[in-house]
Amino acid sequence: MDLARIFINNQQWIDEKLKKDPQFFSNLSMGQSPKVLYIGCSDSRVTAEELMGTKPGEVFVHRNIANMVPNTDLSAMSVINYAVSHLKVNHIVVCGHYYCNGVKAAMQSADMGILNPWLRNIRDVYRLHKTELDLITDEEAKYKRLIELNVQEQCVNVLKTSDVQKAYLDRDFTVDGWVFDIHTGKLIDLKIDFDSILKEIMEIYRII
Ligand code: CO
Repeated sequence: MDLARIFINNQQWIDEKLKKDPQFFSNLSMGQSPKVLYIGCSDSRVTAEELMGTKPGEVFVHRNIANMVPNTDLSAMSVINYAVSHLKVNHIVVCGHYYCNGVKAAMQSADMGILNPWLRNIRDVYRLHKTELDLITDEEAKYKRLIELNVQEQCVNVLKTSDVQKAYLDRDFTVDGWVFDIHTGKLIDLKIDFDSILKEIMEIYRII
């Protein structure tokens, strides 16, 4: 990718937007009121807004390696706090993706340096769901299932925050787990049953 090309693309994009709506950028500069916080992977193939077909101003986005929500990660926690308590979003989506190299790396015995503590969070997901995962003999299927379970556990981490627990009581609010299948382009709703998960975890994690 030629960096100079990016600036040419940018000018084309400005021209297209202004052709359709001369006020497009002046309207954007008035502020944002997105209804959705999307937490996804940094993977260059999983282009959040493009795959969802959303416009500027519609989705607040946080991306990191393997779409993680570690409880002590100041960046993820700040994003959740700002989105929920200030922007007043109604939905938080954790979106994983099949063929995630972060999840794959966590399944292997290799010293990844600074990535070790980050990927250890995924190893913890494996340990939590070891009984189910160990029954899957096909490596590809096991890898996919770990990706789904990682999404589920990151959603649980979202639910552990006081901002989200308050939002659940305050207004119409949902936490959803999705997976993007790079091989087909399909966005899949994992339809995680949070009511039953919540009953189980809130005994321990209730703050509000
Ligand atoms: Co990934």
